[in-house]
Amino acid sequence: MTLTRTILSLSLATLCTAAAATPKAPADVDGARIRAADQEPGNWMSHGRTYDEQRHSPLARIDAGNVGRLGLAWTVKLDVDRGVEATPIVVDGVMYTTGAWSIVYALDARTGKRLWTFDPKVPGENLGQGCCDTVNRGVAVWKGKVYVGSFDGRLIALDAKTGKVAWSVDTILDRKKSYTVTGAPRIVKGKVLIGNGGAEFGVRGYITAYDAETGKQAWRFYTVPGDPALPPEDKAMEIALKTWSGNNWVKWGGGGTVWDSMAYDPELDLLYIGTGNGSPWNHQFRSEGKGDNLFLSSIVALRPDTGEYVWHYQTTPSDMWDYTATQHIVLADIAIDGAPRKVLMQAPKNGFFYVLDRTNGKLLSAKNFVPINWATHVDLATGRPVVSADVNYLTGPKVVIPSFLGAHNWQPMSFNPKTGLVYLPAQESVAGLEAQKQPLFIPHKSVVNLGVEVPDLPEDPKVEAEIRSAWKGRLIAWDPVKQAPAWTQEYTAPWNGGTLSTAGNLVFQGTADGRAVAYAADTGKKLWDARVNSGAMAAPVTYEVGGEQYVTFMVGWGGAFPGVAGPLSHSTRVQAEARVVTFKLGARGKLPPPKQAPQGLPPLREVTASADQLKTARTMFNGFCGSCHGLNAVSGSVYPDLRYMTPKKHEQYVAVVSGSRLNRGMPNFASVLKPEDMELIRQYIVKRAHDLKGQLAQAGGK
Ligand code: HEC
Repeated sequence: MTLTRTILSLSLATLCTAAAATPKAPADVDGARIRAADQEPGNWMSHGRTYDEQRHSPLARIDAGNVGRLGLAWTVKLDVDRGVEATPIVVDGVMYTTGAWSIVYALDARTGKRLWTFDPKVPGENLGQGCCDTVNRGVAVWKGKVYVGSFDGRLIALDAKTGKVAWSVDTILDRKKSYTVTGAPRIVKGKVLIGNGGAEFGVRGYITAYDAETGKQAWRFYTVPGDPALPPEDKAMEIALKTWSGNNWVKWGGGGTVWDSMAYDPELDLLYIGTGNGSPWNHQFRSEGKGDNLFLSSIVALRPDTGEYVWHYQTTPSDMWDYTATQHIVLADIAIDGAPRKVLMQAPKNGFFYVLDRTNGKLLSAKNFVPINWATHVDLATGRPVVSADVNYLTGPKVVIPSFLGAHNWQPMSFNPKTGLVYLPAQESVAGLEAQKQPLFIPHKSVVNLGVEVPDLPEDPKVEAEIRSAWKGRLIAWDPVKQAPAWTQEYTAPWNGGTLSTAGNLVFQGTADGRAVAYAADTGKKLWDARVNSGAMAAPVTYEVGGEQYVTFMVGWGGAFPGVAGPLSHSTRVQAEARVVTFKLGARGKLPPPKQAPQGLPPLREVTASADQLKTARTMFNGFCGSCHGLNAVSGSVYPDLRYMTPKKHEQYVAVVSGSRLNRGMPNFASVLKPEDMELIRQYIVKRAHDLKGQLAQAGGK
């Protein structure tokens, strides 16, 4: 009896100790915990780590002295080899992250062991309804749930322990339009915030807040006016409506989508959102060439409880170059002219680095961080850019710098409070733009509506190489006070990764050519470099488990650039291969060899079309197929390179173009292309295969 009792109490004691050692409930995160994130630097609990989205970690076990000893701790292959843009969330030893098609993975952060996977089963046909690949920028967590915005526009709450759906809501205003969700939700005061994309396809932008517990809609803020025949939804839409002309944008959507950035200041209780470009791009078609078109390309401050408008700053009034201001927003308190200021920093696509007073939206300074030609400067008195006449393509074709891919795109920057520098993944790019003579409005979900001709890229390999050399990447350590670079690192290709800053005096960045790199934060000296197999675009994160610091890179080439600009992305020579790659000091893991590019052309068909027909075919190919299979039928390694189609694939061609691979993301063109158009496009593909054969023979001396 006594013995039994002793055993019983012993086992009870063991049980109790076990309970004490059990980790906290999964994803047990709330606002207080996120606000106090610096007290538990081992976790990465929200998209930008902290509500100010600085992406600076106080962890310093890995530092400039020992970073050279980083090795592969673990790697996990993701299910789909396409663009990966997610920032992982790490809480109490568990990592929650996403891959293409909004698939969510919960992993043991120490070993990479898969705990659960959630596939929202986005219908493949939705691929054609987005401009830029089926990417996803990650999840949010809150009180035991994990939240993901699915590519087809659902906001889904999952049980953090099991990955089972807790609730799911439809965030889409109008299912007849091509809306997509790629952004990471943010959670402020118990509300999940999510926007969407689609401004290339004719949608109206907005952001919606949902109750984190129940999924009930709390508020919606539109970024551009609706039909002027109806009363404006709120005060903000009254302000905005005055800056639009005519009513054409109702049909075209207007744009201004909130597809990525948000930040929150708990003291001021202001939520900041970045808005996208105009839909269509062409200001003439959109707004009779008149008006600033609020709130396109703007930073807007809202009350997170109600969605009420507080202030806005428009970076590109009357946008006509796809100059989104959705790029990453960073909040910081920095000294300007000796006085501490609460600032908001953004480096949008248009190439200017903006420092705003975040209490009221007043512009403090702006300076271009790469060479640009669309504006000479920003007038500090008016806060407006001084636009140069040379880029108004309504008067004829124009060369515009930066291109629609931007001087900086979605790849997040980071801010190190100690060095006072912003680590900005910038790029140089150029585009030729020309207005359509007549608005070519095609009400088709998978066809872009820009109001401009599809940017042309000459087929001549020499010209192509010349243009390619004008597209470059650059990591800039930008001093936001001096508005000047402290140091820079050059890359031969654009579309490099977002950055992570750490208290170990380090900056981490993935590269388009498939490497993970660390630089000294103060001097820019390169300290470490490792192969990761595919382009690494997402911003890395760092965390600690069991007293060890880890650095994770989400790897996977894709997104807008290698899709449309296939030929230009070839300097990177990487294949799409999606993985989570995690490093720690002294580890010695090995990655498998990278995937190989297609080798050797199959036997080719004859080209029977005339030179004139091929010209038309080229326009059709670039218009309908180029955004995925690459302009001039040169793929950027994410989607199949059609020049390599075997005779067997040619047999399937008409079926594939007519929807047989819809569930794998190849759109159905049966309603927009007649059979003879499909054949004509095929002729162009075959012609380009012959061109390639010629080039290969020349290069090989055969
Ligand atoms: C929105 C992106 C997108 C667009 C636009 C697009 N495709 Fe595709 N296409 C895909 C994807 C993704 C696949 C691969 C599907 C799979 O995995 O089977 C594909 C596959 C194909 C294939 C099969 C190739 C092979 O090697 O199996 C052909 C042929 C093809 N596309 C032709 C076209 C043509 C012609 C157009 C223009 C009329 C076009 N595609 C437009 C995404 C696209």
